[in-house]
Amino acid sequence: ECHAIILAGGSGTRLWPLSRNLLPKQLLVLGGELTLLQQTVKRVLAAFDPSRIWVVTNEEHLFEVRKQISAMHSGLDGQVLAEPLSRNTLPAIMLGLDRFIGGNDKVLAAVFPSDHLIGNGEAWIEDLVKASHLAARQRFVTFGVEPSKPETGYGYITLGKPLDTGVFEVDGFVEKPDLATAEGFLRHGSHYWNSGMFLFRAKDFLKQVAKCQPELWDWWMAREERPLVQGYRDIPGISVDYGVVEKIDNIAVVRAGFAWDDLGSWEAMYRLGVKDENGNVIQGDVLAMDCRNSLLISQGGKLAAVGLEDMIMVQTRDATLSCPMKRVQSVRSVVDALKAQG
Ligand code: GDD
Ligand code: MG
Repeated sequence: ECHAIILAGGSGTRLWPLSRNLLPKQLLVLGGELTLLQQTVKRVLAAFDPSRIWVVTNEEHLFEVRKQISAMHSGLDGQVLAEPLSRNTLPAIMLGLDRFIGGNDKVLAAVFPSDHLIGNGEAWIEDLVKASHLAARQRFVTFGVEPSKPETGYGYITLGKPLDTGVFEVDGFVEKPDLATAEGFLRHGSHYWNSGMFLFRAKDFLKQVAKCQPELWDWWMAREERPLVQGYRDIPGISVDYGVVEKIDNIAVVRAGFAWDDLGSWEAMYRLGVKDENGNVIQGDVLAMDCRNSLLISQGGKLAAVGLEDMIMVQTRDATLSCPMKRVQSVRSVVDALKAQG
């Protein structure tokens, strides 16, 4: 028996001004017809019974999340869990586990982020099956993607000895390394990006939480006396990657047979977008004159661009971003600066 926990409560800042607090990346349509969350749900529905799918978000996004997933399957309406506020991914996963752990020592859990794109769903299901065999043998399973650049926003998995075709032991896990470390990993080879999905035996995982995060363990144990969410405000906010994965040693990695993109920046949106004859990716009410290799999006009013090259312009009803393609990583700092302004 395996349950799916879909994480849908992140805030996503790198796609500002399209992604905002109220409408983070996973709730947006970024190409295609479905939002990233809906694409995730669709994929997971192909592998799990609706009664075994749990979507964890927070109060702020509950309404929108419900609306989006009910449109995919009416049976999912009662499967949404809301945190009173965000405490990062580890508590969110524990909230999901609470729903199905019961007395079954063997129950497996698969964790899925809802903010990335996956291609080749059949290979993805095959990889899940491989992972569930490993998890049944008490491995904490990650899904690794071959890195193509020293991205510092990801976790890095150090490959150990092979266990099977496309399956390895893991010798180390480093979440969001600095640039020099990430460059070293790339040079060295034998490191994968962590795709953010996990599969494990729920009981084993909780044992690790007890060891690595005693405060969260105490909170979890107290659920016999009060609802789990009740103490949510006071628990430490920590991601599963920093809080557990970096600290344990029974990890295995399945080399992803599927295509994966985190869509972490406007550059990724450009890369994956459909280009016109001048290499532009254009969405919405845009007039482009002599523009090349640019991403031009308008969701509010007309956007006219003249002579732009390697540029990003994103216009919404109340905010506009204009930024050279090679500076996309700075969008995160824009959001920080805006927050600081209040
Ligand atoms: N319910 C809930 N509550 N969901 C959350 C919360 C929260 O407090 N915080 C984040 N999420 C959701 C996000 O919406 C996303 O779908 C998923 O959990 C992962 O969180 P991110 O905040 O996007 O993590 P990340 O991108 O920085 O890093 C993770 O993903 C990378 C790949 O995209 C890590 O697992 C990295 O190791 C990995 O490489
Ligand atoms: Mg992410």
